Amino acid sequence: MLKPLVEPKQHPLTDLYAPIAAEMTQVESLLKTELTSKYEFVDELLRKSNRLSGKRLRPALLLLFAKSFGDITEDQIKLAAAIEMIHTATLVHDDILDSAEQRRHNSTINYEYGNQTAILTGDFLFSHAFFLTSTLPTTFAAQEIGRSTNKVCEGEMRQIGTKDQFDLSQKEYLEIIDAKTAVLCSCATKLGTHYAGGTDAEVDAAAAYGTNLGIAFQIVDDLLDIVGDESKTGKSLGTDLEQRKPTLPLIHLLDSVADSEKSLYLNSLRSDDLNPATILDWFSKSDSVNFSKTMAIHYAKKAVDALGQLQASPEKEILAAIPHFVLERSH
Ligand code: IPE
Ligand code: IPE
Ligand code: MG
Ligand code: MG
Repeated sequence: MLKPLVEPKQHPLTDLYAPIAAEMTQVESLLKTELTSKYEFVDELLRKSNRLSGKRLRPALLLLFAKSFGDITEDQIKLAAAIEMIHTATLVHDDILDSAEQRRHNSTINYEYGNQTAILTGDFLFSHAFFLTSTLPTTFAAQEIGRSTNKVCEGEMRQIGTKDQFDLSQKEYLEIIDAKTAVLCSCATKLGTHYAGGTDAEVDAAAAYGTNLGIAFQIVDDLLDIVGDESKTGKSLGTDLEQRKPTLPLIHLLDSVADSEKSLYLNSLRSDDLNPATILDWFSKSDSVNFSKTMAIHYAKKAVDALGQLQASPEKEILAAIPHFVLERSH
């Protein structure tokens, strides 16, 4: 087993969860009680997958939208836990796809127990989220979560299909990150608003916030994969290039260099001994990191703008601050 890179620290984003602190504790308790098994080995895997050092962003978004309308119900706590289970399941499976060794400042399930065990752990998390959702009095959440999870899978499937496809367009990249990341954020904000009695226009505004925040979040994540620090993110970095997945900074870089340089870069990208220092050198000579940051800022601003449709509340102020933290994050 790999040693944890650093002791898990609370992420600065979690300071913003103050208005929903009590409810987030309830979500944690529910995750803990739901994700158990009488079989010790299964129980151990479920505990490992549910590590506390995750940012818990998606349940927090759901609850912040819900609370901006009034008191939070038990059903909303269940939904917040279900959304986090889906998110965690996608991470457990994503780490297999990326051959990642570190997640949430610890070794990944695939690294520690192998891919077969990690596939089954992800399956347990997905199916338990659907079970929890089915206990709600209406089917709205089951439909939304089912559809969103399908989209996430579709996004990851499209991404695996773009391996080595270094001529991927920015438009296709944005579609893929919308599917694999933004759709689940949007599902969380939508559910929080719908189950709090929001109007259709308010549910649409919440969904737009989630989508744009999610896109900004994934662009920043793709930048961190290149220029981030593993001791801060607590997860394996550099996996996008290792897996030959074209992300925005690289797409922009390849679009902006002269043809002669581009073929040199493509040869290196396709070779077996791709050196991270070489990649960093390419980026240091280009404007592609800045370009990607500017794109992330653009989507973060759109998220804040979407809040204009919602009534004033302390939670709305926090929701307006979250995109700034997402842009500044190094975790
Ligand atoms: C990681 O999500 C996967 C992406 C969408 C980039 P988070 O960064 O929210 O992961 P945790 O839950 O905090 O570990
Ligand atoms: C995957 O994107 C996002 C998911 C939907 C799981 P990444 O592969 O960039 O996520 P990380 O960097 O491993 O967290
Ligand atoms: Mg990954
Ligand atoms: Mg990543």
